[in-house]
Amino acid sequence: MFSLPMSPQVFAILAALIEQRSGVHYAPEDRELLADKVVPRALDAGFDSLLDYYYFLRYDPAGSEALDALVDSLLVHETYFFREALPLRVLAEDLLVPAVRAGRRPRVWSAACSTGEEPLTLAMILAELGALDEVELLASDLSARALERARTGEHNLRSLRALPPGVEGRWLETCEGRPRVRPELVRAVDWRRVNLVDASAVAQLGTFDAILCRNVLIYFQDDTARRVVSSLTRALAPEGHLLVGTSESLMRFGTALACEERRGAFFYTKARP
Ligand SMILES: C[S@@+](CC[C@H](N)C(=O)[O-])C[C@H]1O[C@@H](n2cnc3c(N)ncnc32)[C@H](O)[C@@H]1O
Repeated sequence: MFSLPMSPQVFAILAALIEQRSGVHYAPEDRELLADKVVPRALDAGFDSLLDYYYFLRYDPAGSEALDALVDSLLVHETYFFREALPLRVLAEDLLVPAVRAGRRPRVWSAACSTGEEPLTLAMILAELGALDEVELLASDLSARALERARTGEHNLRSLRALPPGVEGRWLETCEGRPRVRPELVRAVDWRRVNLVDASAVAQLGTFDAILCRNVLIYFQDDTARRVVSSLTRALAPEGHLLVGTSESLMRFGTALACEERRGAFFYTKARP
């Protein structure tokens, strides 16, 4: 099969372009991995050199859209229902429901929601607690393709691998081998495309009582993660909470948020001014 060589130099400038657009970092040892994704696109677009393809992505008026499509094809959308569910339960039971009972309408943002399993899990938990209508749920991702899937309510069987009993049949059904979430849950979420490395796009979303940013900072280098955490911190209401993945920690970034444990779940909390 016809291929194109990716020199270390072209890899370096392409990886920098991708990182600038998405935050996602490729280390030199990922050169082949990146080449596998880029080469077919370059060939399809009629290029016989990856350097020329790079110039197209970077400078051509049509390049920006092609770069978005390339980035989208590189993103890892691994997720499933009830993944790391304990922090979501604690958030719902200990913080959101009490806020609703106190007459407030809390705002929660799932900031890298992939195909939607994370915010839909929270929606299921809130619905069980009778509080879904009282909580504003926003979910976003950089990937237009993942969001398109999320909005359909259709998921892969792999998304069901950690499903607790009682969910299937009540909040989702499997039709012809395809799990489908109840439409009222999908409708309860405001789905948007937001790039986490775009601080002004984040600032436009307003403030939140809780932000879920789970299993995405791992794709960023420390400087990028630090900038993303800073803009998420600005988007938190006073005493608001940031939740990261259970294997992630903000401690090495020197965050202004205080880490607190609640019933075995870790929350990063913003101080009152
Ligand atoms: C592994 S999934 C995590 C999904 C979910 N939060 C979870 O924990 O199951 C990572 C998601 O981060 C998204 N992502 C990567 N870079 C992003 C960026 N700069 N802005 C927004 N989302 C991004 C990817 O598209 C992908 O859907």
